[in-house]
Amino acid sequence: MRIEVPLAQASRLLNHGPTVLVSSQHGNQRNLMAAAWAMPLDFKPPKVAVVIDRQTLTRRLIEASGVFALSVPTLAMADLCTTVGSVSGQSLIDQGREDKFGRFGIDQFSGPVLGLPLPAQAIAWLECRVLPDFGVFDAYDLLPGEVVSAWADAEVYRDGRWHFEAADPRRSIHHVGGGVYFTLGEMLHTRNLDAS
Ligand SMILES: Cc1cc2nc3c(=O)[nH]c(=O)nc-3n(C[C@H](O)[C@H](O)[C@H](O)COP(=O)(O)O)c2cc1C
Repeated sequence: MRIEVPLAQASRLLNHGPTVLVSSQHGNQRNLMAAAWAMPLDFKPPKVAVVIDRQTLTRRLIEASGVFALSVPTLAMADLCTTVGSVSGQSLIDQGREDKFGRFGIDQFSGPVLGLPLPAQAIAWLECRVLPDFGVFDAYDLLPGEVVSAWADAEVYRDGRWHFEAADPRRSIHHVGGGVYFTLGEMLHTRNLDAS
């Protein structure tokens, strides 16, 4: 079951550094790519930043539409993540093929605020509006976005945090390079050593 995450807590969906999927759409063209370089940027209003190479179709669609979405894929989606992160959407168009959603059989639903195509098997979804470049972003292909909707799967995210303890294979994945990922290890509850 999908639950809405308060926007003030949207950063928690990315705090643990998962590899994400980036959805984009302009007109009737939609696309999906993988991104390991995504991060929370601010609480209020909630912001994220993601590096999206200017050679990608994703970048062109986002620049044309002004919106994008980040989703958190699972262990069960690792091959899909590598695939949409290796195949260029533009090459599919050039070859007259279906887009990545059709070609790789990705179930999708429409984002509640921006209507972006979101992969249904993921465990969290953030729809974002592109923010103006604050100065340093452009040099690094970094896109800042304001989060306008945040949702998560209650099986693995509830009460304000992730519950990956018993979530196999619905855990997030973390790219280390060359198509190799780790999943999260042990959960640690910590205390502040300076607290009286
Ligand atoms: C695990 C993984 C992580 C990636 N991370 C990024 C990233 O953070 N930024 C980026 O620009 N490209 C990243 N890529 C590469 C893009 O996903 C890739 O260029 C993709 O084919 C672009 O698709 P498009 O041209 O259809 O938009 C990553 C690829 C993989 C497999």
